[in-house]
Parts: sequence; C-alpha cells; structure tokens
Amino acid sequence: MTERTSDIEKAAGVLRAGGLVAFPTETVYGLGANAEDSAAVARVFQVKGRPPSHPLIIHIGGGEHLGDWVEDVPATARLLAERFWPGPLTLVLRRGSRVPLEATGGLETVAVRVPDHPVALALLSAFGGGVAAPSANRFGSVSPTTADHVCAELGDAVDFVLDGGPCQVGVESTIIDATGDTPGVLRPGGVTREDLEAVLGRPVAVHSTSRVRVPGQHPSHYAPRARVVLVEPEKVVAEAEFAQQLGHQVGVLLPPSFAGAPVKAHAVVAVPGSMAAYARGLYGFLRELDQRGCGLIIASLPVERGLGLAIANRLRRAAGPRPSE
Ligand code: TXA
Ligand code: MG
Repeated sequence: MTERTSDIEKAAGVLRAGGLVAFPTETVYGLGANAEDSAAVARVFQVKGRPPSHPLIIHIGGGEHLGDWVEDVPATARLLAERFWPGPLTLVLRRGSRVPLEATGGLETVAVRVPDHPVALALLSAFGGGVAAPSANRFGSVSPTTADHVCAELGDAVDFVLDGGPCQVGVESTIIDATGDTPGVLRPGGVTREDLEAVLGRPVAVHSTSRVRVPGQHPSHYAPRARVVLVEPEKVVAEAEFAQQLGHQVGVLLPPSFAGAPVKAHAVVAVPGSMAAYARGLYGFLRELDQRGCGLIIASLPVERGLGLAIANRLRRAAGPRPSE
C-alpha cells in the first residue's frame, strides 16, 4: 500500500464533504462518491459524461454490511458473498431504502461489491459508509488501471486521487444478477464463470454476449481512440501488415503464438500467454497504442475460458460500432 494514513483520512473527509475521490481497487480505479449523497452521485455522472440512467456499483467495506444496502439477501447471494468477497464480484440485489435512486439509475435493484485492495478497504473503513463508484474514466473509454491513467482521463475534475499502484486484476468485476434463484452473469469479469460454477455446483449462464441486459452497456465501450478490428489469431500479422501498407498507423496486439515474429506495423504489443497477465495489461496496452499514435488496432480474441471470457468481452466491445456510426 503506497498511501499513507493521512491521505486515507483526507480522502474520507472529501467523501463526507460531498466530493469525489478516485481510488484503486483490485480491478480498475473507481471514481467514488458518498452513495447516500444524491448531489455527489450526480456529480459522478457529470464528470464521467455518463447518462444518469446508467447505474453505479456501491462499494462496501465488508460482506457483513450487505444487509444495510439491499432489501433482502437470498441464500445464493450470501454464499457468493462469503466465498468471493473481498474480490472482483458484484452482486445485483433488490435496492434497500438507504440507496438513492440516483445511484441505481432509477432501478429497484442495486449493484454491491467489496473490493479486494488495501487502499480501498482502508478508505471504506475510514469513511464508514458506502461509496458509489463507476470506473474512473470518461464514459465509453478504456478503464484506468493506474493513478496516472485517472489523471490523464479526468484531471482536475476529481477532488482527490488515491494512488495504490497498478491494479492487479486489470478488468472490471464480474456482475451477477442474484435477485432470483438462478444467478446469471450480466458482465464477465475478474471472477471466472468456472469459479462461480464450482461454488454453486451448477452451470451459470452468461447473458452479456447474447442480449444487452446490463443497462448502460452500449455497443462501443472500453474503447481506445484507435479503431479496433478483430481477426482470427493466425491472420493478425498479415492483416496488420496489409493495413499498414494501405497507409494506416497500425497497432498490433500480437498473440502469443507469434511471439518474437517481426511485424511491419507502427507499434506492436506482445500479448502475454497467461490470461491473468493479459487481463492485468489489457487496458494499459490499448492506452499505449493510442499514445503511440495508432489509428487502427488489429487484435484477436483469446479462448473464452477463465479470464479469457472477460478479455474477449472487452475486446468485442472495444471493436463495437462507435456512437457516430
Ligand atoms: O470492477 C468494477 O466493477 C469497477 C470498480 C471501480 O469497482 N467498477 C465498474 O463500474 O466497472 P462501472 O460503472 O464502470 O460499471 C458498472 C456496471 C455498469 O455496466 C452498470 O450498468 C452495471 O454495473 N450495474 C450497476 N447497477 C446495476 C443494476 N442494478 N442492475 C444491472 N446492472 C447494474
Ligand atoms: Mg466502466
């Protein structure tokens, strides 16, 4: 933990005063506000440029507080909370009266999680309440995984930035609809479907790729400035070189099977073979290719197992149609 106690106290004070604090979690950096302060929550939407109908996740300091924020805790939700918190799992449950409708985008359900990061947990403990926080990026763009990314995205619009070093998971939490008896994944993330199935002892459906069930998910999300084009892994090099010849500034996410191969492109990032390392690096790679001036990124999808499911979901959405299209 790189933050000092005085910084944590200062950040908690900013939250109490209705301000916004960017803070590290194990997944990505969050842009936090006092979840019970409607005006502060409204500012989060404004700073992000996010439509107010898109609900936020409420971060709490421990699973024992879950009942304070939701109407009831079904047995399955309790099991998941006990098994995966603190950790990259978000439970969607029926909204408790303490949660303002501003935080849920008007929904009668609320998303809650306990982040697994010492700085986030210290902040939540010092503050004492719930912190409503989306990822600390502008709406639709790549989530920040370092404090520098937050400053580059949001600059002075944030009242205080806690620096907890680079995020260890690197992709957002898995969101589970836990309102009914059969929980389903609304957004794949840091907790894998396989881990969920092992704990629940049955198959878990992933809704996100079939139908848009999570409000606030637009086709293009998690997107760098450069256009992202997905091709089969064995075609990445040929497609990249072709596009470069056509005059594009091409960035390449080079699959492990091509490791070390020379590629005639503007910028090349070698994708790690381990899915955990790929997830940790993914958003940084996309930012790096933007920074190096790429106009086009050629990439392929990993096998959709384990963390590969979340990585593929983010790449697909980065490659989705842009709002102007
Ligand atoms: O890892 C994470 O989840 C990060 C860190 C900061 O905790 N947060 C994050 O927040 O990714 P955000 O706002 O970028 O994404 C939250 C997602 C949105 O897609 C939103 O639609 C969904 O959670 N969500 C929130 N409340 C919901 C609800 N009641 N029902 C369904 N989806 C909900
Ligand atoms: Mg986000």
